Formats: sequence, C-alpha cells, structure tokens
Amino acid sequence: MPTIVTLPGDGIGPEVLAAARRILDAVAPDLDYTEHLVGGASIDAHGTALTDETLDACRAADGVLLAAVGGPKWDTTDPDKPRPEQGLLGLRKGLGLFANLRPVRPLPALYDASPLRREIIENTDLLVVRELTGGIYFGEKTRTATTATDLCSYSVEEVERIARVAFRAARSRVTSVDKANVLETSRLWREVVHRVHGEEFPNVLLEDVLVDNAAMQLVAAPRHFDVILTENMFGDILSDEAAMITGSIGMLPSASLGAEGDPGLFEPVHGSAPDIAGQGVANPLAMILSAALLLRHGLGREKEAAAVESAVDAALDGGLRTRDLGGEATTDEATQAVLAHLERT
Ligand code: IPM
Ligand code: MG
Repeated sequence: MPTIVTLPGDGIGPEVLAAARRILDAVAPDLDYTEHLVGGASIDAHGTALTDETLDACRAADGVLLAAVGGPKWDTTDPDKPRPEQGLLGLRKGLGLFANLRPVRPLPALYDASPLRREIIENTDLLVVRELTGGIYFGEKTRTATTATDLCSYSVEEVERIARVAFRAARSRVTSVDKANVLETSRLWREVVHRVHGEEFPNVLLEDVLVDNAAMQLVAAPRHFDVILTENMFGDILSDEAAMITGSIGMLPSASLGAEGDPGLFEPVHGSAPDIAGQGVANPLAMILSAALLLRHGLGREKEAAAVESAVDAALDGGLRTRDLGGEATTDEATQAVLAHLERT
C-alpha cells in the first residue's frame, strides 16, 4: 500500500489539505497516510520548522503532499530565530527535489476571472520548470551589523539535470530564462543549456530570453511559451506572475521531483493566506490539482490524475467560484462540487 506523508503546515494549509484528502479518498482509497508538522506549526511544537523525524518520514514515503507554511506569528528578520520557510527549503534540499514543475493553463471558464484580457490569455498552456535546490536560495549567507550577502552559485551538473527535465517536458520549444548580460551564473547556465540541447535534444527549439524581458512577455504574449526553463529565484518570481494568467494564484499546483524513484513533493504555489485562515473560504483547487500531480508523477496513476483534473474543470464550467475568483463558494462547497463531478465520471 503506497504511503503518503501529509504536511498541512500553517494558515489555510489544514483546510485545503483536508479538501484534497476527500478527493484522494474518492479516487485512490488504497493510500495510507501519516501526518506531520512543518513550518510554523512545527516551530511551535518543536522549536524548528522541520524535524529529522518529519524529514525521515518523507524520505521513506511514496510521495509528500504539502499545503502551505508561514504566517505573521513567525515573521522575523532575526537570523537566529527559526522561520517557517526553512521547513520548505529543508524538505526540498533534504529530499533532493531539484526540479519544480509549475503548469499554467487557464481554463476557458475562468478567462474572464483573469486581470488580463481574454484575447491575451486564450489558449495559454505553459510549464515553468524551475531549478529548486541551487542558486541564491542555498548559497552561503553572511550578515554583519552593516552588510549582508547571499551567494548565487550553480554547477554544470545542476544545470544539466534541470535542462534535461525541461527538454523532455517540451512539446515544441524551451525558453531558457537567465540574466546572462549581468550574471556569471547565467552565462554558465546558458552555455550548459545549449550544450545539452545540441547533444541530446536537437529537435526541440531553444531560445534564450533575459529575465526582465521574460517578465514582460509573460503578460504581453503568454501563448508564445511552451516550457520556461529557469533558475531558482527567477522561477519563483515568474511563476507568481504566471499564476495571474489563470485568474488566481489559488488555482496553481506544483510538483517538485528529485532523482528517479525518490519521493516527490506536491504543493500548491500559493501561500498560507493567514488573512482568511480558519474561515473555511480558501480555494482548495490548487491543492486538489497538486494531489492530481501526486497521482500522476508520484504514483504513476495517470487515469485517476486526469479524472481529478477533469472534475475540477467541470466544476468550474458549472459555475463554481470561490472568493478569490469573484464568487462566494466556500472550501467545502468547492470540494463537494469537484466530488460530484468525479462521481459522475
Ligand atoms: C514558492 C515560495 C517559496 C519559495 C517560499 C515560501 C520559500 O514562494 O514555493 O514559490 O520562494 O520558493
Ligand atoms: Mg514563490
């Protein structure tokens, strides 16, 4: 029986994770779950955002479902205090999750929920492939009373392996996003991506776009993109921007994958939304779609994954709108709507 570790985390995390569990129970009743604390919840209980016990449980699992971490209660700029995000970063590093996949596909039913015009977003179907365990996020950090530094470093091997993920995922084109006009890491990035392309994937189109220009093109002509391949921090920023193409960041799932055979981590792109936590009004769809990615990439259950995704589409087609999408549906009503469509298929 496959084992899944669930990490509800903070804020709306427990609410949306419970919603995803109801969906999983309907399509994959044979899964076994263990729940662990992470983020602020773990800081409160254990003084650290990620315990060894939680990390070990994740390593031993077949997949990890994480909701969200963080909140004003634990916000601090003191480098000696624990921060909830350390839980997430520790999991990514500890599980070797170097490839973060963030699909962006606005549904026709939501075209008018996006702040961008329908003509601009229509038929967008892109995938952000974000490097997740290197770069400025994990480089050495220093702090004195008057200065602070964050080192950005990439090795050839780190770029090669993420480039391969992007080329394999591409249907037609990979857009490699960097800042090669300024950063040395970006020049290495560009050289390695081109070498991997020439040697292993010559039939995929490859283009280089500087990150500032990519940020502009993403809202000016999102349809242009197929796979966006980029380093850790650029991917963080561009994926939030891309989320608005779908109308709400409450819609975007993500998969973080490591080496073949190792457990992946599946989580929504959105955060813990402390302002609406505990009210039962959070949009659970990004979490539910993340559960679909767990079924597909973590457990190889394509049929069930597609069924969940179709049920989400159908629920939205049927008029389901949570608050972030301009409607009034609660978390429970949204979950019921998806369940109802699942039962019909
Ligand atoms: C994300 C988040 C995280 C990141 C934070 C919470 C550390 O913004 O997953 O995009 O920056 O990677
Ligand atoms: Mg982010």
